[in-house]
Amino acid sequence: MMKRTVLAAAAAAMLAALPAKAADYKVGILLPFSGVYAGLGAHIENGFMLGLKDFGGELGNNTVSVVRDDTEADPGASLAKAKKMVLSDKVDVLTGIVSSAVLGALRDFVHGSKTPLVVSNAGNDDATGERCSPYITRVSFSNSSITRVMGPWMAKQGIKTAYLMAPDYAAGRQMMDAFRATFEAAGGKIVGEAYPPLQGTKDYGPYISQAKASGAQALMTFFAGGAAISFVKQYKEFGAAKDLPLYGAGFLTSAAYVHVQGEAADGIIASLHYVPTIDTPENKRFQDGYKAAYEGKLGSEFAVAGYDAAHLIVKAIAAAGGDKAKFKGELAKVSFNGPRGPLRIDPATHNVIQNMYIFRNEFADGKVTQKVLATIEGVQDPVNGCKI
Ligand code: PHB
Repeated sequence: MMKRTVLAAAAAAMLAALPAKAADYKVGILLPFSGVYAGLGAHIENGFMLGLKDFGGELGNNTVSVVRDDTEADPGASLAKAKKMVLSDKVDVLTGIVSSAVLGALRDFVHGSKTPLVVSNAGNDDATGERCSPYITRVSFSNSSITRVMGPWMAKQGIKTAYLMAPDYAAGRQMMDAFRATFEAAGGKIVGEAYPPLQGTKDYGPYISQAKASGAQALMTFFAGGAAISFVKQYKEFGAAKDLPLYGAGFLTSAAYVHVQGEAADGIIASLHYVPTIDTPENKRFQDGYKAAYEGKLGSEFAVAGYDAAHLIVKAIAAAGGDKAKFKGELAKVSFNGPRGPLRIDPATHNVIQNMYIFRNEFADGKVTQKVLATIEGVQDPVNGCKI
């Protein structure tokens, strides 16, 4: 009896000493490396690679390799590339996706093929609402969560009328609709709106003139990437800001390009899930690492989402070990404190729950700083028809 117990204990000790079951995970990165959102793609990928480096130690004996492709922010091209990654490259998980239109196009394929997708930008509300999927997990934001915090806040500042402007596609419409709902509920009135094409609008002059002519007290916008740079510069050239102060989803003055906008960004007030000035050890580690790896550049909200996507994937692998079927179910269970603050995934929708920051851009001594005016903690979307 005694001898058997000793033998069993020795066997258990030997098993424990063996390396845990491990697997090689392949990640498919789908991002725009060309077109209006090319800059965003570069930041997200930089953040992702930095995240793999910073958290790779948690992988144990598992390994991660990546393949990448350019979505061109084009829904048709993106679907073909996602299919190739899953069916011929045999990736275990997809990540990236900047445009809400691309996410809309990919949804049925990832759901039907049971391919996990960790969304590191595209805010399409439907993807964590009516068209949610157990295979889609979002670490970035939902479109409506970004702008709906601005409605009551602006109304409280005494603003009674607003004009809306955003690119004519799902993200633009959803961000403006969410703002409209909360601004009107707080007693505000929308006096006009305009939706220029997403790709190829070079001249915002006619749209800006129309907004000015509306007599609104504020212009609420969503623009990102190349469109945000052009829009903010043209707004300044028009001298529009003194009659019609500019507000936005914070991508308007992203840390990725606010230095290019410079003085033109001064005074713009916006809401976002991240500002570079957050004073925590996690954010310091991220910003110091980003600066060291990428020529002294500031890490943006895009880079943070890439970084957190890598962190989430690493944690899910660590929890699943070599069991790839288990890995799929682990992604939405992850939570951690990241550069933006506490982050967790809502089990009911797989959308991220996180803080929102309302901030003002202040230009002084040749540079723009983003001063936080309000923090709204633990912003969580309603279930919006999602059944997981
Ligand atoms: C989107 O299409 O969902 C989108 C694109 C760029 C942003 C934010 C959202 O900065």
